[in-house]
Amino acid sequence: MTPRKVLFVNHTSTVSGAEMVLLDVAPAFAGSAAFLFEQGALNQQLEQRGVRVFSSRFGAGFSRLKRDSRAISAVPMAGRMIGVVAELAHLAREYDVIYANSQKAFTLASLAAGIARRPLIWHLHDILDKTHFAAKQRQLQVYLANRNARAVITPSLAVEQAFVAEGGNPELANVIPNGLDLDADPIPKTILRRQLDLPSGPLIGVFSRIAPWKGQHVVIRALANLTNVRCIIVGSPLFGEDDYANSLKILVARLGLQDRVHFLGQRSDIPQLMQAVDIVVHPSVSPEPFGRTLVEAMLVRSPLIATDAGAAREILAPDAVNMLVPPGDTAALVNAIRQVFSGAAGLPSQLDAAQTRAKDFYGLAKMRAAIARVVEHAVNNKNRTSLQAHQPTNTSFASTVL
Ligand code: UDP
Ligand code: GLC
Repeated sequence: MTPRKVLFVNHTSTVSGAEMVLLDVAPAFAGSAAFLFEQGALNQQLEQRGVRVFSSRFGAGFSRLKRDSRAISAVPMAGRMIGVVAELAHLAREYDVIYANSQKAFTLASLAAGIARRPLIWHLHDILDKTHFAAKQRQLQVYLANRNARAVITPSLAVEQAFVAEGGNPELANVIPNGLDLDADPIPKTILRRQLDLPSGPLIGVFSRIAPWKGQHVVIRALANLTNVRCIIVGSPLFGEDDYANSLKILVARLGLQDRVHFLGQRSDIPQLMQAVDIVVHPSVSPEPFGRTLVEAMLVRSPLIATDAGAAREILAPDAVNMLVPPGDTAALVNAIRQVFSGAAGLPSQLDAAQTRAKDFYGLAKMRAAIARVVEHAVNNKNRTSLQAHQPTNTSFASTVL
């Protein structure tokens, strides 16, 4: 295959799950580059991986526009938006395809792609539903996708279904599950607890960035009913959710849980921390588009309790120590945690099955190869690109729905 020159576009330079995917995808395309609206950690991390980075002169501040804000709040930024579109359209002429990795990047890239006459791919990392986006925003996104995108890549069926339910053209959609680095060294829990300065005894962990829809408050409420269980809350508010982060600390104090809830902040040793806890809890209260955290827990053979919203049902292994609970349901979460600690759902063979599933379906090489096929097809064909490039054949549903 001729190497394709891809221009990746992202609005934020803060690294959350979608940017982690970009960091794994962009270096696989030799001669490619990234156009970022702002300066930040992502710029350096892409450059360290050999990707040329262009920073917009006009794009700073777009990440502060809230997903649910009204279109009117973007008006003061109109001039700068035009600036970004002009920069992008100019740059895009040097590339074979534009690849938007975020929703805001896609909006402006879809205008630039028309001017530069380049095909456009949208890697849609979000669930386009009312819990995540205002109606006008969803309509605009879908309209632009149907009109201007050559292909839409979604990390899960859940994302694809939400896109189509909003009126997105199904012929555009390609489900390509996120791929992760599959090798994590197994280390005994007792050693890890000592090394990481974690308490002994029953310990659960939450590993999402801190945001209201990630649902950390539900786990804290559950803890109040789980005497002797401690919890580490790992992650930080990456996109200005400081009020929510403070409210979590207030909740902990109000429930008298200061000795049992430990906020560890942003960490870079997630596989070790996940192996150190007894259960990973993924408590999102709105549908999770994918949830790299889920696959990471499966890879290190951790029992996992996730909320039944979005992609968790597709990802969790059948017949494994994986459980789904209704989002926001404290009592169900308490029951599920008790069930795992009682040993009812702790068979090593089930954890093995979850790990095998994660390795079989969610590897980096598979994701990169599938994306390369979509890129190739988008460059070669004027028609819409729906290859359904890599969809788990065994799209399974978790065995235990509480
Ligand atoms: N993560 C991390 N450090 C933290 C908290 C989270 O490196 O302190 C990682 C986590 O391991 C996962 C990613 O951030 O790989 C979050 O991706 P996910 O898809 O779960 O959710 P997102 O935040 O993108 O919605
Ligand atoms: C977004 C989603 C998350 C997904 C990630 C990578 O950040 O919130 O669920 O795993 O993108 O696709």
